Amino acid sequence: RHLREPSKELSKITMPIVFNEPLSFLQRISEYMEHTYLVHKACAQAESIERMQAVAAFAVSAVASQWDRTGKPFNPLLGETYELLREDQGFRLVSEQVSHHPPISAFHAEGLAQDFVFHGSIYPKLKFWGKSVEAEPKGTITLELLKHKEAYTWTNPLCCVHNVIVGKLWIEQYGTVEIVNHSTGDKCVLNFKPCGMFGKELHRVEGYIQDKCKKKRCVIYGKWTECMWSVDPQVYESHRKNDRKGAADSRKQKTVKNEDADDMPEVQETVAVIPGSTLLWRVASRPPNSTEMYNFTNFAIGLNELEPGMEGVLAPTDCRLRPDIRAMEMGDMDEASKQKERLEEKQRAARKERAKDNEEWSTRWFELGVNPFTGSQDWLYTGGYFDRKYTDSPDIY
Ligand SMILES: *[C@@H]1O[C@H](CO)[C@@H](O)[C@H](O)[C@H]1NC(C)=O
Ligand SMILES: *[C@@H]1O[C@H](CO)[C@@H](O)[C@H](O)[C@H]1NC(C)=O
Ligand SMILES: *[C@@H]1O[C@H](CO)[C@@H](O)[C@H](O)[C@H]1NC(C)=O
Repeated sequence: RHLREPSKELSKITMPIVFNEPLSFLQRISEYMEHTYLVHKACAQAESIERMQAVAAFAVSAVASQWDRTGKPFNPLLGETYELLREDQGFRLVSEQVSHHPPISAFHAEGLAQDFVFHGSIYPKLKFWGKSVEAEPKGTITLELLKHKEAYTWTNPLCCVHNVIVGKLWIEQYGTVEIVNHSTGDKCVLNFKPCGMFGKELHRVEGYIQDKCKKKRCVIYGKWTECMWSVDPQVYESHRKNDRKGAADSRKQKTVKNEDADDMPEVQETVAVIPGSTLLWRVASRPPNSTEMYNFTNFAIGLNELEPGMEGVLAPTDCRLRPDIRAMEMGDMDEASKQKERLEEKQRAARKERAKDNEEWSTRWFELGVNPFTGSQDWLYTGGYFDRKYTDSPDIY
């Protein structure tokens, strides 16, 4: 597979707006919160293995909205922010674009019942491989369950968009995601599988939770597009042995080969449930007309909503106030293009101005620090966003 060197750092190329979806990357990362009920579930478990199962399900569910989302989110402008207050789901989130080159987005979410904190900074490193674009979401994600005094960290899997030049676009996520419990060093290892030659592994995720003595406590399996299950490791092993006997002759699927495109394999069997498994998570179905709306989930559809009265309350840097995204949402592509160019030009001019005056950009809600759990550099929330004092916000639109 990926043997060639990528030809370009894609973040430096400007792409026409038709490849976009009308959301900023800051809004896109807030989609991690779609299944916040799994965090609440983790908080409510008395057993640590049960908590880890819920956290693992949350980590997988957080990337489920990527399914069929081949539209590229808008690159956030330096200083752009996004807030999401969801009383119904018991959380509030704030994010900020803290660096332009490389593009780094920092986010901080907290439970309204002071039950959890969820934060991270994401640097989506894009690589162009000829037929596909691969996004490596560099950056650690931290989930703290406050009442249990537990912290979990992980890094999201790689996301690949196939057939960016010819053929039908499709999305694959792969790589190993390790969720570490920093109180003990116990962990959950999740393997997002590449789809493979016959597509048998398409969307498949498999892994296990091990305790501090490296004893496997449960096996986790499913698909990031569908559902995740948990089962006892012994039940899993004996099931697999039986399964292999019958598998030998089911390999006869043929794939129609298109010479120029890497087509998505046809095989899309759903998850075969092993008897005795417990359901950890199931994806919510998308709205019926989702395909006409960039394949958005119900959660994504609401992200750019600007309710009456909100405008005076939001920080002036909020994504909802970005004119190019708004124009695209309204279907006016020419205006969206024009506005996008204007905003990028304004950003360049501001940067030049700062360089001339030897002035450093200062972030507003996050500062560079050390993640106490991993010991590595991270952007940490400095607090106060929801006090709603925005008078010294930069003018970026
Ligand atoms: C939405 O999903 C459909 C069906 O898989 C796909 O054909 C289409 O390209 C997707 N559209 C976007 C904007 O990702
Ligand atoms: C995580 O660490 C805590 C604190 O040491 C411990 O009580 C708990 O069992 C661990 N949880 C898991 C799932 O390993
Ligand atoms: C999709 O359905 C929703 C809710 O029924 C509606 O508000 C929206 O306008 C529809 N969008 C399109 C593009 O048809």
